[in-house]
Order: sequence, then C-alpha cells, then structure tokens
Amino acid sequence: MSTSSFRVARCKAFLFLLVVVLFCAVSALSVSSLDFEVGGEDGWEVPRSNNTQFYNQWASKNRFKVDDILVFKYRKDSVMVVTEEDYGRCNSSHPVFFDNRGSTEVKLDRPGPFYFISGNAGHCQLGQKMIVKVLRDDDGAAGSSPPSAADQTGTTPSGPLHHSGAVAPGCAVSTLFLLLVGPLLF
Ligand SMILES: *[C@@H]1O[C@H](CO)[C@@H](O)[C@H](O)[C@H]1NC(C)=O
Ligand SMILES: *[C@@H]1O[C@H](CO)[C@@H](O)[C@H](O)[C@H]1NC(C)=O
Repeated sequence: MSTSSFRVARCKAFLFLLVVVLFCAVSALSVSSLDFEVGGEDGWEVPRSNNTQFYNQWASKNRFKVDDILVFKYRKDSVMVVTEEDYGRCNSSHPVFFDNRGSTEVKLDRPGPFYFISGNAGHCQLGQKMIVKVLRDDDGAAGSSPPSAADQTGTTPSGPLHHSGAVAPGCAVSTLFLLLVGPLLF
C-alpha cells in the first residue's frame, strides 16, 4: 500500500468522524423528543384490504411520550383528530383538529389516547384510522424497558427519526476521539 493511499484512507476516516460529529450537533439541537413518521415508508393512506389494522399495529410497535411529534405524509388525503366516539363511528363531521396540506405534524402534548382518522369519505371505514396512546411521564421511569431508538427491533422506517438522548453517548465518544486523533492525522 502506497503512502498516498494510506493518507487517503486516513482522510476518509477523518471525514467520517466529522460527519458523525455534525450529525451529533444537529441532533443535540432538538430536545429529547422523538419524531415519528406515521406508517413508516408507506405514509398515511388507505391500508391494503388484507391489512386493515396496519396503523394500529404500527402504533403498538412504538412507545409515545408527551412532546413526541407524529408526522403524517399523504397525498390527496387528510388527517383528523377526533373523539373516541367519532373514531368508533368514523364520523368526520366535527373534528378536534383537521389538516389536508400533505404533511402534518401533530405534537402529542398530553398523556392518554389520541384518535386519528382520515377525513376523506370512506377512508376511515377502510382502516385509515389509528389510536395512539401517549405514556405518562412517570410510566417511562417505572417501566421495565425504557423507550429508546434501540428498542425499535431494527425497523428504522417506522422508528423515530431521531433521539438525542440515545445518540448523546456515541456523540461524546466520537467527538473526544476526533479531538484527540484529528491533529495526528494531518
Ligand atoms: C397483502 O397482499 C399483498 C399482495 O396483494 C402481499 O404482498 C402482502 O404480503 C399481503 N399482506 C399481508 C399482511 O398479508
Ligand atoms: C356524526 O356526529 C354528528 C354530531 O354528533 C351527528 O349529528 C351525525 O349524525 C354523526 N354521523 C354519523 C354518521 O354518525
């Protein structure tokens, strides 16, 4: 191996660490809440007819805390927050919240259940509906398994988009490493 290719390899390693540190800085700017993209890569749409429980299954795979944010991505559709009764009947006539701009962020600002339905005619009846249960603050502390990105059984698309609490230790290590080793590489 020539010295120049060795230098290139070291440079690549340094750049990689730099990217890690930048990523850390960006995640640190967000508070310790999570962003969840509803439905993962599928987004918010009428589920397949053989999978009408898709959204409630997605929700049950995640743990939601106060201040977490749900991100709904959809086309020619809408998002409503409704009461439990209206959820059960797919009644979209008086939503608590409504949006149809294609991308909707809903902050889970209290513990307890949130009821979501599509406001488009017939979509809720076809399964485009979801109950999200938000844990109380002390549920996490008392619970046996703390919520973290690592709990998401390897399903990145449906998992949270970022979690500064979980990345923090890795960030500290890589930043320290970069500070110590960076000057030696150049
Ligand atoms: C539903 O049907 C599609 C094909 O029509 C198939 O690819 C998919 O695996 C099925 N999903 C379930 C949950 O059975
Ligand atoms: C929806 O709710 C409104 C107000 O409570 C009620 O008047 C209407 O009949 C309901 N529609 C259905 C389909 O249940």
